[in-house]
Amino acid sequence: MRQVDVELGARSYPILIGEGLLSRAGCLAPYVAGERVLIVSNDRVAPLYLEQALTAFAGKATASLVLPDGESHKNLDTLSRIFDALIQGRYDRGTTLAALGGGVIGDLTGFAAAAYQRGIDFVQLPTTLLAQVDSSVGGKTGVNHPGGKNLIGAFHQPRCVLADTRTLATLPERELRAGLAEVIKYGLIADGDFFAWLETNMPALRSRSPEVLEAAIERCCQLKASIVAADEREQGMRALLNFGHTFGHAIEAAQHYRGWLHGEAVGAGMAMAARLSLRMGRLAEVDYRRILGMLAAAGLPQGAPVEVAAAELRQRMASDKKVERGQVRLVLLNRIGDAEVTLDYPQGKLDEVLRVDRVATLPA
Ligand SMILES: NC(=O)c1ccc[n+]([C@@H]2O[C@H](COP(=O)([O-])OP(=O)(O)OC[C@H]3O[C@@H](n4cnc5c(N)ncnc54)[C@H](O)[C@@H]3O)[C@@H](O)[C@H]2O)c1
Ligand SMILES: [Zn+2]
Repeated sequence: MRQVDVELGARSYPILIGEGLLSRAGCLAPYVAGERVLIVSNDRVAPLYLEQALTAFAGKATASLVLPDGESHKNLDTLSRIFDALIQGRYDRGTTLAALGGGVIGDLTGFAAAAYQRGIDFVQLPTTLLAQVDSSVGGKTGVNHPGGKNLIGAFHQPRCVLADTRTLATLPERELRAGLAEVIKYGLIADGDFFAWLETNMPALRSRSPEVLEAAIERCCQLKASIVAADEREQGMRALLNFGHTFGHAIEAAQHYRGWLHGEAVGAGMAMAARLSLRMGRLAEVDYRRILGMLAAAGLPQGAPVEVAAAELRQRMASDKKVERGQVRLVLLNRIGDAEVTLDYPQGKLDEVLRVDRVATLPA
């Protein structure tokens, strides 16, 4: 088992990473302060892993709530169902919530924990690659609103994150690739050596080698943990984690969240941010080629879908949460492993990128 600590003073917590961790009876009991645990999951993940999660909490009084699967359920109505279960079951402030699933379940459950009785404990049991390397760490929780993604939420750190890499065996291929986009992101923004390691190990990641997956998840969690420890509330460097995301969110929104997966859109967004960096003379051509090669190796798109007009992308980007003084804040690259948040880029070059970087279909 590998352990990464998120250092946040009194709110510090461990990320435990390893194969088969969920099956270790009672391993999560030390992270539960009170007696009662409510595991929140969905109807896709619960049949696969709920029994194991119950075992992991052996010694505590544990119950479960199974919600419908899907991003479309990450809303206030579903959040209310968690509160209903807590209130009907007379759960008190000493209760721990556990999120068993991907980022949707993690964000929903974390927000319920942040708000129920002004805040109760929760633990994250992420079961997608994206959740294991990104969403379960760092304390961002929330739900979507018809007006936009993640518009309602809170910062609330978990007591523990347990990433059982064995759960990734049942993950659909497309979801695995989407998670790889976030893995690549860490190399690009913070660790050129890790990016080079990924170039060597991408085939092993695609074939789900347990050791290689575990090593990659550990490195991503270390990088995210250090960024979150330095800037928990995103007043500075945490914004680097949005690399590729302003472009990606515009793609997702243009497809009404029914097209590409988040990670696929972020893959395209990283290619577009890299191209803008190249055109501005910030990024060397060799680095740019390596980035496109890496996205191809991960089975990710290297540009926006052809059917979305450049003008729509531009307009969607302008309504991003990250707009400041009329200009969208973007994360651009100086080289692989070194990124910067900036308002300083020529609109004309951005427009060129929005027009040029296009793909007809997702890689097979
Ligand atoms: N809080 C954060 O910091 C943060 C960061 C990134 C993303 N997010 C959020 O995370 C969400 C995306 O997360 P996601 O990509 O995990 O999506 P998801 O939670 O929808 O999971 C993807 C699909 O895989 C299924 N699944 C999960 N684990 C499985 C397993 N082991 N085997 C088989 N199927 C499994 C899910 O039920 C779902 O159908 C978005 O809502 C996004 O906003 C949050
Ligand atoms: Zn993301």
